[in-house]
Amino acid sequence: MRKSEGDHFLTSARAAMLCACAIFLFIALSLLCIQNPNLLIKRKPFGRWKAPDTLSIPATKEGMLISYGRELVKHTAIYLGPKGKVKHTTNGMNCQNCHLEAGTKFFGNNYSAVASTYPKLRDRSGTIESIERRVNDCIERSLNGTAIEERSKEMQALVAYIKWVGKDVDKGSTPLGAGLWPIGYLERAADSSRGKIVYQKNCERCHGPDANGELATNGLEWRYPPLCGENSFNIGAGLLRLSRMAGYVKMNMPNDLTLLDKPPLTDEEAWDVCAYIASLPRPSRDLSKDWPDISKKPVDHPFGPFADSFSEIQHKYGPFTSMPSFKKPKELMLK
Ligand code: HEC
Ligand code: HEC
Repeated sequence: MRKSEGDHFLTSARAAMLCACAIFLFIALSLLCIQNPNLLIKRKPFGRWKAPDTLSIPATKEGMLISYGRELVKHTAIYLGPKGKVKHTTNGMNCQNCHLEAGTKFFGNNYSAVASTYPKLRDRSGTIESIERRVNDCIERSLNGTAIEERSKEMQALVAYIKWVGKDVDKGSTPLGAGLWPIGYLERAADSSRGKIVYQKNCERCHGPDANGELATNGLEWRYPPLCGENSFNIGAGLLRLSRMAGYVKMNMPNDLTLLDKPPLTDEEAWDVCAYIASLPRPSRDLSKDWPDISKKPVDHPFGPFADSFSEIQHKYGPFTSMPSFKKPKELMLK
């Protein structure tokens, strides 16, 4: 650049213009990145978490436990479901129905950050939870079942597998792509009647007209899991929180279309279709012992009592952004 000439011409007005342009560009770029997750991913080619290769599971006793854990995540119902060969303690869903690709999929509710961040304090229980406790949480809520013994072979296998999935992640850190996509919030309430139309257009062909799913040919697990009704997750499950379900659906459903590159649903469609699913009946659960400190309830936890005066309906469907306890989802780190 012709620096000395440039200095000469940069009157304060021009400097201000340049500054404004730079700020505008920065904001536009940030917005673009938030809208299109793929941009983030392209900017961070080395940070994209990948699960270890299953071929690297050692042929030792520990390795066999890890492999059994993986099998349990993929086919939970065959072992622990209503006709399970080990026990009958869960509802027939598989962990993998929600923790996609055996808990290894990028933004598919994967287990990458479990080994690195547990045990940890969780506000729902108000206690420090081990991985075993967290797994039993999903068994009791997402699988609408009864907790399994922490010393059982099945629990040990699940924990061994989950630890193996996250074994290369530094202690205390959470990789980009862990868990669920932090979907942006709408300014309005999510709308279940619009959501029903989104459902019919995008979901019904697999999950069925009543969202009750379709059994697999073995009659033990689901080809398409139920989204409501007696075989679905109960009201205590994390997926019933609209931001959780919408983040899951946005990045992963319909599951036969290319997703991360071009999620088929808009954010609005994802919120609305989840409002529709959340409006359908499902098994109950006593939640009176959850959230011992009610001020820690997330804005989209749909059951009172609340520390504020907003209704259960608003805590279920929104709008959330106007609530004082609303916190913008954590921005994704690009470093
Ligand atoms: C109905 C869906 C569903 C099913 C089925 C399910 N989970 Fe989960 N699980 C979730 C959701 C939702 C979360 C919370 C994700 C979040 O808030 O980021 C979660 C969280 C977890 C976590 C903590 C993850 C973390 O990073 O903190 C573990 C561990 C876990 N589940 C294990 C299991 C296991 C093992 C099974 C099967 C026995 C299972 N889950 C079945 C939906 C499900
Ligand atoms: C092409 C078939 C297909 C379509 C279309 C589809 N899904 Fe799914 N969905 C699946 C399958 C298969 C799973 C379980 C994934 C697994 O086990 O690997 C699943 C899992 C789910 C789950 C978590 C498990 C549960 O039962 O609660 C939710 C929620 C979900 N889908 C919502 C939707 C929504 C909303 C739509 C429409 C926007 C949709 N799906 C469209 C096949 C589909």
